[in-house]
Amino acid sequence: LLPQELIRLKRDGQPLPDHELAAFIQGIADERISDAQIGAFTMATYLNGMSPAEVVALTRATRDSGHVMRWDDLNLPGPVVDKHSTGGVGDLVSLVLGPWVAACGAFVPMISGRGLGHTGGTLDKLESIPGYDPYPAPERFRQIVKQEGVAIIGQTGQLAPADKRIYGVRDVTATVESIPLITASILGKKLASGLDALVMDVKVGSGAFMPTPEASRELAQSIARVATQAGTPTTALLTDMSQPLAPCAGNAVEITETLALLRGERQDGRVMGVTRELAVEMLIAGKLADSRTAAIEKLDRALDSGAAAEVFSRMVHALGGPSDFIERPDDYLEKAPVIVPVYAERAGIVARIDTRAVGMSTVELGGGRLRNDAAVDHRVGFSQIAAVGDSLDNSRPLAFVHARDTAAAERAAGQLRAAVTLGDDAAHADTLIQETF
Ligand code: URA
Repeated sequence: LLPQELIRLKRDGQPLPDHELAAFIQGIADERISDAQIGAFTMATYLNGMSPAEVVALTRATRDSGHVMRWDDLNLPGPVVDKHSTGGVGDLVSLVLGPWVAACGAFVPMISGRGLGHTGGTLDKLESIPGYDPYPAPERFRQIVKQEGVAIIGQTGQLAPADKRIYGVRDVTATVESIPLITASILGKKLASGLDALVMDVKVGSGAFMPTPEASRELAQSIARVATQAGTPTTALLTDMSQPLAPCAGNAVEITETLALLRGERQDGRVMGVTRELAVEMLIAGKLADSRTAAIEKLDRALDSGAAAEVFSRMVHALGGPSDFIERPDDYLEKAPVIVPVYAERAGIVARIDTRAVGMSTVELGGGRLRNDAAVDHRVGFSQIAAVGDSLDNSRPLAFVHARDTAAAERAAGQLRAAVTLGDDAAHADTLIQETF
């Protein structure tokens, strides 16, 4: 079919044959198909949706539009597994989870992103560590995964190149918010790393990428079904992002928190709650544990023995960071010139947090990007952010702001106060793990 004929089928609500869809997506990767044609196709899909079989075909075609990694020649003594998240604020899960499950025998080739909109990016956080190079050559990446069990790196143009073009066009044609397109975009990239199993963390709440709980739920269901049908067994968890997940947001501050968690501190916090559930799913999917109890025992051992922290340390060093980073992080992580507490205007109990606003304030401090090519200030952000249900008064601040100067700190303080609603009654956090698909 000519590209315009495939677009016509979608426009008229007719089914798309798998091989024609695959040829169209390959044409996008090869630049034979124009941006105008991509835009017409994404809008027709946005308006008419896709059948489950079409989403599977689109996902496969996106995955296969570039290099698909293989691991079988390395004879790894464990499964190749990964996690992906729709992103959030204070979401440092990947940084703890990757090394933790690697310490339990899994191999984790984690390809992560930069901050997007109000959400933080794992790569930006890792780049707080001097020398950390998230772009090793592909063979070096494989060797680090083999030796250390995990490598967290950035996306290169070789994986799923069709998605790069499609996403760029969607961004400027009002066609981002389509469950079939989001599903194929996320999975096309993720499944190109040659996984045995995947766990997906779909966020719900005021800091989530999806605008409503129903949309988050629909995306979680779609991803679990499509990935599994495309050949990679996948579980999706719907998890709470109605407040920052860790009590901090920013880059260096989240690395500091990561080290505390890997040392086994604050094991009962919300971020460890989500990380542990995802880790359990990964160990079970990777056949490293045959029950939830067995998985938890294994995970506890890896944390208590220091093995998980050791894997993180070795990964950082293998990717160019200091060999003693986890022993002396304060010697390496830069600190903001201004670190001050932000007090609420009155005493009260935290009832609600506009998590997106906290994320945007972190971006404005310089911790994320307002423009694609902007540099990130790794020093800035918030720490010790109060959680829903916490009691605040003139001795317990809302958070500490880390800023490049006092004017930026004051602006961020005002934004944080506006983002937090105080009440007088006891308040409870939303359920952490809401559903599993
Ligand atoms: N993230 C992606 O990678 N793709 C989407 O379409 C949405 C979020």
